[in-house]
Amino acid sequence: MKVKKVNVGLVGLGMVCESHLKAYSAHPDAEVIAVCDLDAARLKEIANKYGIPKTYTAYEQMLQDPEINTVDITTPTILHSPMALAAAMAGKNILCEKPFCLTLTEGQEVCEAAHTQGVTLMVGESYIFMTSLKQARTLIDAGEIGKPQQIRQQFGSWVERPGVLETGRPVTDDHRGWRMDSKKAGGAGFPWMFDHCVHFFATAEYLMGSRIKEVYALKSDISWMKTAYQVDEGETHVYRPEDSGDIPIITWTYDDLACQGVWMRAETLNGKFDPMYGFSLSIIGDQGMIEVLGEGGRGLQWMGESTHLVLHRKDKETRTFRFDEGGDDIWQSEVSYYSKAHQNQINEFIDALIHGRKPSYTGEDGKRDVQTTMAAICSAKEGRPVRVKDVTDLRFAKIPEANA
Ligand SMILES: NC(=O)c1ccc[n+]([C@@H]2O[C@H](COP(=O)([O-])OP(=O)(O)OC[C@H]3O[C@@H](n4cnc5c(N)ncnc54)[C@H](O)[C@@H]3O)[C@@H](O)[C@H]2O)c1
Repeated sequence: MKVKKVNVGLVGLGMVCESHLKAYSAHPDAEVIAVCDLDAARLKEIANKYGIPKTYTAYEQMLQDPEINTVDITTPTILHSPMALAAAMAGKNILCEKPFCLTLTEGQEVCEAAHTQGVTLMVGESYIFMTSLKQARTLIDAGEIGKPQQIRQQFGSWVERPGVLETGRPVTDDHRGWRMDSKKAGGAGFPWMFDHCVHFFATAEYLMGSRIKEVYALKSDISWMKTAYQVDEGETHVYRPEDSGDIPIITWTYDDLACQGVWMRAETLNGKFDPMYGFSLSIIGDQGMIEVLGEGGRGLQWMGESTHLVLHRKDKETRTFRFDEGGDDIWQSEVSYYSKAHQNQINEFIDALIHGRKPSYTGEDGKRDVQTTMAAICSAKEGRPVRVKDVTDLRFAKIPEANA
């Protein structure tokens, strides 16, 4: 739905919300006019900090506000589809955080409602808006590495931050325990992977320019990480074996069978952090290769200089790129570009609304990456490759008795 000015009501004032609020504040065509959270103290704190005039503790009430034309949903995953559906029915444009849905059926329902109601629906897939990955895509589109043939990713799982190792406290302690509970975070026994895999698959399709066809994921024993895999239950921290499914490595093929990809968990290999490369990605083409160096690697050096993207080409000089984007004040990482990625993503959303066009990552895209994530989890459970198109809610829902 085309609008002259984007008047936002944002729901869910947890960890991710401030990157969204900062992005809207910096844009001349948008304003957050209302915020909503169950936590009244947090509501007051955020409204004061960002000068937001209206506050709600009931989402349904916020949706009735006629001044709001757009809703931004940054609540736990279990609420994404129900809240997005209600927003569509109230005639509001929607930006909904990833993962878009817990089931494919509910995701489809939201896409259909948005279409019928004539509202715009974008899913907040921040990775494809990282400046370094956008630059990689520009270089690929310009033919700098020839035809991309293979992508290798080393990201996440964010479970074992240095602070967590030291204190034995779960990283989820910062932002509540829902993330490790499949009922609230999705994943049928693999909640942590469900929360994060969508990023890896969105990136894998964005840079390779082909759809993922089949995935093969390994399952591992995470008993050595029991302190990290805990959930807040009141005052105590409870290890939940039924929700501790872990996947350290995923491989996949594309519709273009000459292409393939692999993701490996970057952080905790036998309790050791990989300090040299941290999070990184490479794309190999038939004429060259791109390396994108990211969060977590303290030794990101190239010829003595720290760089963030390296372009290697056949018979040409190697080029390096830095992206100095003011550091990171939200995500507890040394060289992360997440804040800027969220800003880029929200700029795209606002631009799509002002010009009445489709955003570059839609509800259908969000649903597709959830389906690929489900395929990875099915594959880990069944110990064999799974085609993305074969995954249905029913097949995915088969929950193991205990994963660890
Ligand atoms: N794209 C990214 O890089 C990125 C990064 C972090 C989180 N996320 C996603 O953002 C979403 C939120 O994550 P988070 O870390 O901010 O979570 P969080 O737990 O820190 O915050 C969730 C907030 O929602 C509020 N809430 C819960 N139920 C509510 C309700 N019924 N009505 C109103 N408010 C309610 C909670 O009180 C809390 O303040 C998740 O889906 C997560 O996957 C995305």
